[in-house]
Amino acid sequence: MKKFYITTPIYYPSDNLHIGHTYTTVAADTLKKFKKAQGYDAYLVTGSDEHGQKIQEKAQENHMEPKEYVDGIVKDIKKLWRMLEIDYDEFIRTTDEHHEKGVQKVFEKLYKQGDIYKSNYEGLYCTPCESFWAESQLVDGKCPDCGREVHLTKEEAYFFKLSKYRDRIIELYKENPEFLQPESRKNEMINNFLKEGLEDLCVSRTSFNWGIKVPFDPKHVVYVWIDALLCYITALGYGTENDEKFKKYWPADVHLVGKEIVRFHTIIWPAVLMALDIELPTKVFGHGWILFEDDKMSKSKGNVIYPEPLIELYGIDAFKYFLLREFSFGQDGSFSREKFFQRLNSDLANDLGNLVSRTVTMVEKYNEGILQAPVKEEEIDKSLIEVAVNAKAKVEENMDKLNYSQALEEIWKIIRRTNKYIDETTPWILAKEDKERLNTVLYNLTESIRIIAILINPFMEATSKEILKQIGLEANINWADSKEWGKIEVGTKVEKGEVLFPRLDIEKELIRHNKANEKLIEERINRKAMKEEKAEPEEIKEEFITIDDFAKIEFKVAEIIEAKDHPKADKLLILKLKVGEEIRQVVSGIKEYYSPEDLVGKKVVIVANLKPIKLRGEESKGMILAAEKDGKITLVSTLEDIDSGATIS
Ligand code: ME8
Ligand code: MG
Repeated sequence: MKKFYITTPIYYPSDNLHIGHTYTTVAADTLKKFKKAQGYDAYLVTGSDEHGQKIQEKAQENHMEPKEYVDGIVKDIKKLWRMLEIDYDEFIRTTDEHHEKGVQKVFEKLYKQGDIYKSNYEGLYCTPCESFWAESQLVDGKCPDCGREVHLTKEEAYFFKLSKYRDRIIELYKENPEFLQPESRKNEMINNFLKEGLEDLCVSRTSFNWGIKVPFDPKHVVYVWIDALLCYITALGYGTENDEKFKKYWPADVHLVGKEIVRFHTIIWPAVLMALDIELPTKVFGHGWILFEDDKMSKSKGNVIYPEPLIELYGIDAFKYFLLREFSFGQDGSFSREKFFQRLNSDLANDLGNLVSRTVTMVEKYNEGILQAPVKEEEIDKSLIEVAVNAKAKVEENMDKLNYSQALEEIWKIIRRTNKYIDETTPWILAKEDKERLNTVLYNLTESIRIIAILINPFMEATSKEILKQIGLEANINWADSKEWGKIEVGTKVEKGEVLFPRLDIEKELIRHNKANEKLIEERINRKAMKEEKAEPEEIKEEFITIDDFAKIEFKVAEIIEAKDHPKADKLLILKLKVGEEIRQVVSGIKEYYSPEDLVGKKVVIVANLKPIKLRGEESKGMILAAEKDGKITLVSTLEDIDSGATIS
């Protein structure tokens, strides 16, 4: 299997990540899902950039040790990525021991070979950006990146011979037009940095100590950008005995970064790799910024849009769809709630949601939900089929250029074409006049929806699965099937499910969302959120749980007093349980293993305090425990008989 290595930047620990921050990660995760669908062994690295003066100062303000301070925030960052179902393979922290050792090794190697040397530095330093600037680079006497004050700083320091690599970097851009994308950023790098000649880079600091120590001169710490960039290889085990992943996945196929950090990734990073004699990444893509009404989002301006309320109120898929569809990846874009709700209504509720629900409803209404053979084709079908089967190649072509928005547009072309096909063929009239033609139209509609569902899968996984379910197909998709027509079998049973995207009353939603977002802003300003989230459970991937975690689960003995088939699902039984005095309903997926008669009177063990849910329309309050091995399943019970309601601990 061909590998595909994707990275996001490693994030500064901030308890204030807004939708702009999620942009790089959502894009990277979507690319990973897309490459996986295409059959690649895609690997995604993200992480956190925890060293530096800024963090040290923040920790002090909070009366904490830096490590303690960042631990709390990193947990929040991971929580946000979990909320967005980001499927990263490795989360590298610059405080990870193997990373620190790797950085020290690199520093020592470069020093020994003369690429790093000791000298004095005097310059203008921007603390928030951890960057030195030349007088000529300042904008209105301030930092050109963030617009804040710079300070004159003088210190003994180590330098990296960046100047030595200037010509090779220019050559790299020339010989590999793909290396730096989009094109406009290349000119920016050449005109603003490379043309005038590169100065050597100061790569150590003595003014603070929260960083990786220079191994042979420990009053110096390594410059954060050298520390941070090396994550892309230490995350793969570079510099340790365990470097199979480095051998397998390096070089990076794409580093996705925001435009403000392109400079570090396309000048400093390749130079360091050249010095280390390591292969260069294939591509660095510098995406644009998401602004709020044309202004930068910031907590102090009070115009931050947080991802959490949007995700909680409208779902992950709507959130991701909007980010990737609304903005052109290489350019800046302006977020507005109105635009968000309009897209949800037009693209998701009207175009996609309606197509699926109209089609499934018609198949149910006219053909009892069963797809019939398409025996009566007409000329007009061809244009629908053509749009549908050609979309895959267009989506791929755009995704290769990281043109997410256009890739989605290509899928929406099928959606709109298919909706139009309904209006053109008027199945409700065919239902009365031409049954064979009706069957063909309904088949074609469903087939088109199948293709749409496969194509949107990397962008909107849950929606894709729900659509496939409604047209009677298994959720595991085969990407290549999206260019084949006629894959869905005659006789397939479709079944109407939940509304995919309810139509929103924009006025109401503006108020509802604003409330939720404002509440969060307030919470964050008061730092309430941090305290609350500290009580959150540890990371899901954690190997052990604590006794407190365990104590949260309430196991009880329950007696099955009634059991029947779920009318709408093949694998589910609906059970009435007696738990002490209480009678409750639980839906359980054990129909293949137990018939209802066998179950009545049995005592089983349940998780009693599981959040109730509806399974295919039936309430389920709790979960019955079962043991499983090699496809054999048996319900869990107690050794001796005991009254229902007994607790288990
Ligand atoms: O730069 N719009 O981390 P970071 C779009 N630690 N993207 C945005 C954005 C916005 N409004 N705000 C932030 C760092 N981002 C370094 C990276 S890599 C070796 C070290 C993006 O936490 C930003 O462009 O400031 C970047 O891609 C990511 O969020 C993390 O930024
Ligand atoms: Mg930043």
